[in-house]
Amino acid sequence: MKKGVSFLVTVALMALASSLASAFDPSPLQDTCVAIDDPKAAVFVNGKFCKNPNLTVAEDFFFQGLNIPGNTENPLGFNVTTVNVDQIPGLNTLGISLVRIDYAPYGENPPHTHPRGTEIITVLGNTLFFNKGDVYVFPIGLIHFQFNVGHTNAVAIAALSSQNPGVITIANAVFGSNPPINPDFLAKAFQLDKKVVEFLQAHF
Ligand SMILES: *[C@@H]1O[C@H](CO)[C@@H](O)[C@H](O)[C@H]1NC(C)=O
Ligand SMILES: *[C@@H]1O[C@H](CO)[C@@H](O)[C@H](O)[C@H]1NC(C)=O
Repeated sequence: MKKGVSFLVTVALMALASSLASAFDPSPLQDTCVAIDDPKAAVFVNGKFCKNPNLTVAEDFFFQGLNIPGNTENPLGFNVTTVNVDQIPGLNTLGISLVRIDYAPYGENPPHTHPRGTEIITVLGNTLFFNKGDVYVFPIGLIHFQFNVGHTNAVAIAALSSQNPGVITIANAVFGSNPPINPDFLAKAFQLDKKVVEFLQAHF
């Protein structure tokens, strides 16, 4: 019985360790923690290095230009403009960020996942699989995509529950990995002809 309990505790500790390793945003331990590049000028650390709060200015919490569409002239026909801790240093440790996503006609944001953030998205103009004003939630880690089913440009705004939600694009990760994954393995995993796998690997 005791052994069983200690085994459970070990499993719980391992689960805790792996959740720490997946690096969720910490809860802030201070009011603000403006990210700074120079560790010598830093005060506290709870994410990136923090600027001395006495030197914090309004501009640390400001970004301009989300009204400007991203260029969608690429093979997938989409463009993501990120507003995370790299654009707004004041977001450091606050667990939130924003993106603007533009879609060309029939453009798509291909299947991907955000390892550190739940996403809540709303369509501002035209239609994806959902319509203007609709709001959809992609829970953290879930594979999701958007597809502009309209024949005009579309735009969406999404908020994510991380200062740096990260993105893993499935096709790139699987077929474009470096070093490459063994094509025989991928052919079996995806039940594809090896030639198709090699074609995809050459593409990504
Ligand atoms: C911020 O200013 C206060 C008041 O002048 C001072 O006591 C404190 O040491 C300063 N903090 C830092 C980190 O410089
Ligand atoms: C997204 O748009 C920006 C601004 O027009 C451009 O600099 C960038 O290259 C575009 N990214 C892609 C992947 O097309």
